[in-house]
Amino acid sequence: MLVSSAHKGETNIMTMGWHMIMEFEPSLVGCYIWSENHSRELVRQSKECVINLPTADMAAKVVGIGICSGRDTDKFAKFRLSAEKGAKVVAPLISECYANFECRLHDASLVNKYSLFVWEVVKAHVAQSPHYPRTLHYRGDGEFMISGTNTRRYRRLFKPEML
Ligand SMILES: Cc1cc2nc3c(=O)[nH]c(=O)nc-3n(C[C@H](O)[C@H](O)[C@H](O)COP(=O)(O)O)c2cc1C
Repeated sequence: MLVSSAHKGETNIMTMGWHMIMEFEPSLVGCYIWSENHSRELVRQSKECVINLPTADMAAKVVGIGICSGRDTDKFAKFRLSAEKGAKVVAPLISECYANFECRLHDASLVNKYSLFVWEVVKAHVAQSPHYPRTLHYRGDGEFMISGTNTRRYRRLFKPEML
């Protein structure tokens, strides 16, 4: 994912492989944002961010964004990405991404110990097509998995109330 942020007129983007769903209602997402990252200060101060879902064709940019810092680089300019105004947060959406989740900080109590920010998604934007975009999933050690085949073959095994 790409995390975009803004504080006092400055905007930034970082790459994030470590994240997880934490709750349905409210919609909570946990994100690891390590202390050496400039983004950490921006999201800490502003208490907002946008989590953007890039597609596989953006892979080189995703890595590039994750190996330089907003301390000395304007990443929107360097990676030719468009900052779009959000509906509920000041942090910009990245237009080129398939989906954008506007977030407000829900719980910062695990930040000092685990670098874990718990965000509430307050607005979601998702492209109409394709239905299943090709997305990147970071496996570590410089390796990505690119999303592939979908199956509903096992759907009948679920309890109805789970669907
Ligand atoms: C594939 C990939 C995954 C990454 N995942 C994370 C992550 O989950 N959390 C994190 O804090 N940094 C992660 N990083 C590192 C940051 O993206 C990187 O330190 C970035 O330069 C921070 O930018 P900033 O200083 O402008 O905030 C990742 C980098 C790459 C390339």
